[in-house]
Amino acid sequence: MKRRHRLLAAAAGCAAALPAFADRMQSALHPRGSAASDIAFIWWVMLGGGVVIFVGVLSLLLYGLLARRRPAVRSHRVFVVGGGLVFPGIVLSALLVYTVIVGARLTAPPPPDALVVDVTGHMWWWDVRYEGAGGTALRAANELRIPVGRPVHLRVHSADVIHSFWVPNLAGKIDMIPGRVNRLDLLAQVPGTYRGQCAEFCGLQHTLMALHVVAMPPQEWEHWFAGRRGDAAAPVTQVAARGRQLFAEAGCVACHAVRGLSDPPAGLGPDLTHMGSRPSIAAGVLPNNRGNLAAWIASAQSLKPGSKMPSFHNLDGESLTALAAYLSELE
Ligand code: CUA
Repeated sequence: MKRRHRLLAAAAGCAAALPAFADRMQSALHPRGSAASDIAFIWWVMLGGGVVIFVGVLSLLLYGLLARRRPAVRSHRVFVVGGGLVFPGIVLSALLVYTVIVGARLTAPPPPDALVVDVTGHMWWWDVRYEGAGGTALRAANELRIPVGRPVHLRVHSADVIHSFWVPNLAGKIDMIPGRVNRLDLLAQVPGTYRGQCAEFCGLQHTLMALHVVAMPPQEWEHWFAGRRGDAAAPVTQVAARGRQLFAEAGCVACHAVRGLSDPPAGLGPDLTHMGSRPSIAAGVLPNNRGNLAAWIASAQSLKPGSKMPSFHNLDGESLTALAAYLSELE
């Protein structure tokens, strides 16, 4: 890979990640879900306890240094047995009991009204399937929309190597292991957009494997869900209609599903039926807008080297504009 391309990819990664930190949309210390609150509380208890013990040990050290020339008035045994065995024994046992209780709460079976979603990790994107009464009700990619206040039961899979699903504002991490189904329960308490990140090194573009979780008020979510289950929206503008034609001619349909237009084998590439309403392109590489869509189609291999999306150098500016218009109209 050329140095310029490497720099471009690194810059794109940083640009994509920075707003997430500024907005606290990817922070375990700003919990917006019940599981994340439990985990954050343990973290604060351990930090507070750690600070108290650290200050205590340093004070004793200072005392020992200053008092070393005076005759010993304290028995060594008090410090060795009390400070070395009894005190850590009590503290660690209390922590163990507390974390076992919280762990049991985090892994309790989901209630029957939980929304069940299958999330599959691919190198390097996320396939999202919402379960309905008769199987998959809705398929999406790199974005998970959930209703606030309703338990969500995630079944996580991997299509290739080990990934890890992690949305710090909402819950802890769970590994996505090939050939195995792991489970994670979460419940969003505050509406908002939260950034998730693959948390297990999974190859060249591990950094650029992000996922946005949008927590919506329940009624808004119901409306969104019902409205997204049909076929993709037909192009409104002429340029988008030309884009749809190119989408078929240029071979995009071989990997990308757009309901009502193309139906390739599941998992080859992200489902683009509602590409226009997603916050980002290519699992967090770029913010979603027409300019970036055109740039991504023309230079995917410069922006995310090693991904399965080829760079379409052969397309001229007019074709790229048309394709970008089509995709952004797919709301
Ligand atoms: Cu997938 Cu790291």
